[in-house]
Amino acid sequence: MAERRPLISGNWKMHHNHFEAIQAVQKLSYVLSSNDHDAVEVSIHPPFTDIRSVQTVIESDGIPITLGAQHCHWEDSGAFTGEISPGMLAKLNVSLVIVGHSERRELFGETDKEVNRKATAVLASGMTPIVCCGETLEQREGGQAAEKVTRQILEGLAGLKAEQVAGLVLAYEPIWAIGTGKTATPEDAQEMCATVRHAVHSKWGAEASEGVRIQYGGSVKPVNAPDLMRQPDIDGALVGGASLDPDEFARIIAYRLVG
Ligand code: 13P
Repeated sequence: MAERRPLISGNWKMHHNHFEAIQAVQKLSYVLSSNDHDAVEVSIHPPFTDIRSVQTVIESDGIPITLGAQHCHWEDSGAFTGEISPGMLAKLNVSLVIVGHSERRELFGETDKEVNRKATAVLASGMTPIVCCGETLEQREGGQAAEKVTRQILEGLAGLKAEQVAGLVLAYEPIWAIGTGKTATPEDAQEMCATVRHAVHSKWGAEASEGVRIQYGGSVKPVNAPDLMRQPDIDGALVGGASLDPDEFARIIAYRLVG
């Protein structure tokens, strides 16, 4: 079985203007070592208004960080005021796009069907979606967590081919753990990431389920990253708050040096 390369992603959400973004990426490049880059793929997902500036810094300084976005529309162009197309992101050498983050779903009403259109459009533009799933506290306490994420994955990836799914990134982010300081235990996170992998296996088979990378997200910090990353079905982390501080983010990326 091929090794899955860990992917640690910083989702900056609506933080950092383009000046702050340039400073953050430069600082991150100083604090990461070549060993870090050998062991882990690192991506950052700045707000849209920062992407061109961050792209310029990454490319002119040869910084081996993958450029990502947080969201996009599924159409190539058209009368969609305020939206950004996958083609526009691809033109800026964005290679990863977060799709269906729980904040988009909960605050902006994104549905599984829209997530599916976006994931399909991101792939069609030559980029890789990070498709998010995760349950609310109520759903977890009601014993519906596995059913919820399975549905999000099956509907979110509907119509994709097994070889496309094998190259995707999925992120399990329990909503109750996002920005709350409450992390899923490594065992619970492993169980849910295994559920996600099982859902992929049930529909797309072994090649897809062994290839797909599954991140955990929700209050990932330097202190809990090593135990989370040690789990067999966790291939990376989607980090919010702790990715805003380059030193803290770098300590998460160095998880393998702990213990
Ligand atoms: P926090 O790491 O701030 O909990 O955010 C997680 C998240 O939503 C990443 O996409």
